[in-house]
Order: sequence, then C-alpha cells, then structure tokens
Amino acid sequence: MENNNQKKRMLSGIQPSGDLHLGNYLGAISNWAARADEFDNYYFMADLHTITVRQEPADLRRRSLNQLAQYIACGLDPEKNVLFMQSHVPAHSQLAWVLNCYTMFGELSRMTQFKDKSAKHKDNINAGLFTYPVLMAADILLYQADYVPVGEDQKQHVEICRDIATRFNGIYGDVFKIPEPYIPKAGARIYGLTTPTDKMSKSIPDGCIFLMDTPDVINRKFKRAITDSDTVNCIRYDKENKPGVANLMNIYSTLTGQSFEQIEAEFEGKGYGAFKPAVAEVVIDTLTPIREEAERLMKDKAYLNSVCKDGAERASYVANKTLNKVYKKVGFLMPER
Ligand code: TYM
Repeated sequence: MENNNQKKRMLSGIQPSGDLHLGNYLGAISNWAARADEFDNYYFMADLHTITVRQEPADLRRRSLNQLAQYIACGLDPEKNVLFMQSHVPAHSQLAWVLNCYTMFGELSRMTQFKDKSAKHKDNINAGLFTYPVLMAADILLYQADYVPVGEDQKQHVEICRDIATRFNGIYGDVFKIPEPYIPKAGARIYGLTTPTDKMSKSIPDGCIFLMDTPDVINRKFKRAITDSDTVNCIRYDKENKPGVANLMNIYSTLTGQSFEQIEAEFEGKGYGAFKPAVAEVVIDTLTPIREEAERLMKDKAYLNSVCKDGAERASYVANKTLNKVYKKVGFLMPER
C-alpha cells in the first residue's frame, strides 16, 4: 500500500459524456481545486466509462480534451494535480478485469445507477453498464486513494469499491487502501432548474447550467427555473414543499457561503422576481472567468496534449505498482525481464 508522500491522496474522475455543468462543479471540481495543496491529487477524464452508453467518437475526443481545459480553468493546476485520460493508463482496464472476478453479480444488480441507466437505454443494456462500478473500483484502488471526492450520487459506487477491496484484502492481505467517500457539506446534490426533484444533468439541458454557458444563456435558464409548487411567493427553505426554491437557495448558499437563514433574511419581503436574478448573478460571476480561461486553453491543443502525456506517465507509475502487486498475489507468472 505504497504512498511515500506524507499527504493523503485524493482521486476522482468525471465522464466526458457531456459538457461539464454546475452540478459537477459544485459537487466535485470546486472541492478538488480548493484542497489541492492539502492532498496528493489524481483527477482524470473517465472516458472508458462513457462508452457504456453510445458516443459519437469525434465528439468524445473533443469533449475529453475540452474537459481537461475546463479542469485547469476551474483551478486544477497540472503542477499540483496529476491530470490524465483514463484510457491512457491501461492499468485501469487490467485491474478492472481482475476485480470483476472478485465482485458478485448480486451486489452489482443492486446499483441504483445501473437500474436508472438500463431503464433509460433499454436498447443497449450492455455488460459494461453492469460492471461499470468495478472499473470505478479499479480507478480508485490502483492509486491507493485515501479519499474520493464526489457528489452524493456516487456514494454507492465508492461503497461497493470498499466492499470489493475489503474482500480482496481478506484473501490476499493488505493490498488495497480502503478509500473513504469525501462528500461536500454544501453542493453535494444540485437539482435541475426545470426538474427540481431530479439531479441536475446534461440530459435535461434547459434545466442544466453548463460551465461554458454565456451570461445571457445563464440568465435565461434561471428566469425559467421552477420555483414553487405552492402559491406563496417567498424565499423560504422548505425542501419538501418548495424544492425549486430550496435548490436555488442551495446554489446561492454554496457560492456565497451564506446560511439559509441569512438568505431568507436578505430576501425578506422580496419575491422570486428578485431572488432568481440574484442567483443567476453569483453563478455568472463564478463561471465567467472559468469560461474565459477554458476558451483560451481549448485553443492551445499542444499544451493540453503535453499535460495529458505528463499526467499519464505520472499516473501509470503509481498505477502499475499496484497492478503488479495484484498480478503477483493472484498468481500470474511475471514476465522475465
Ligand atoms: P459523473 O461523471 O456522473 O459525475 C462527476 C461528478 O459530478 C458529481 N455530480 C453532481 N454533484 C452534485 N449535483 C449534481 N447534480 C451532480 N451531477 C454530477 C458526481 O457525484 C461526480 O462526483 N462514475 C463517476 C465517474 C467516475 C469516478 C471514478 C468518480 C469514474 N471513475 C473514480 C470517482 C472515482 C460518474 O459517473 O460521475
């Protein structure tokens, strides 16, 4: 379980299956960036995971590199964070195969994301969709990560990763560090602006704020945000009865650091007509510099490719150490050098 660095290790990834959105930013990336100095950091584009759902190859390639630009623009300095494409480190697929043989059919059948995605993509319920959490476990365990910073929806996957690692260690000794999910107190679950009981997701673009949205688009989306299922036009945190307002308050609170009570006081006597543009404004203030920097970086393909190359080398070094150990433990004959 080697990590000679004194710092604890963080690892996470995001699928480049769509453009990054405010949920990804608040639930994941902003927390990665905020803690870069405290931890030893590994962050990747989970491109292997995306093909569990059909992708347009040229789009996937473009989005993968753009996502890297957006990671950097969000504050992930490649000097302080190892940034890489998952498919550039073959050890991910190699360990996933081994772990498949230590994961039970029953436990994979219980995964919520599998149930949701197989309901959504009925014509393509492939084996990859089913074994997706095993690849994710491999991603994490290869790096002996201490913490996995994710939004609430990924907690179940980190838990199955812990179960798989514990099972493997139970047979072969302490091979894997058992990772902890690292879920932010605020922003762990951002809901869609037009569907405030479903998580914000690229599949409903009208209710989803993308990091690359311009101020005009952001204003328009917030204007159309659903605020209420009751008729009282007041800013009050009531997740049950006013999920739309609660979601906007959560976004506002995460970005400004204000508590719900402070927000209620600030908007006392004012209605949604004042609150929605205020939320839009803090979102625009946060995302504009990110968009501008990402646009600049996206034009610099040579730089992005050099970050990928360096990241893949640094990641492979750590990943291969774990993979070799696993190969030895399970009894594979090591090649003569
Ligand atoms: P993915 O690509 O769906 O989401 C990436 C990250 O963004 C968070 N997130 C949200 N947080 C708050 N509110 C939302 N509406 C919202 N939508 C997404 C997710 O919780 C996640 O942290 N399986 C993973 C990717 C992955 C991974 C890994 C993560 C592959 N291997 C290893 C950690 C470690 C996924 O599909 O996330």
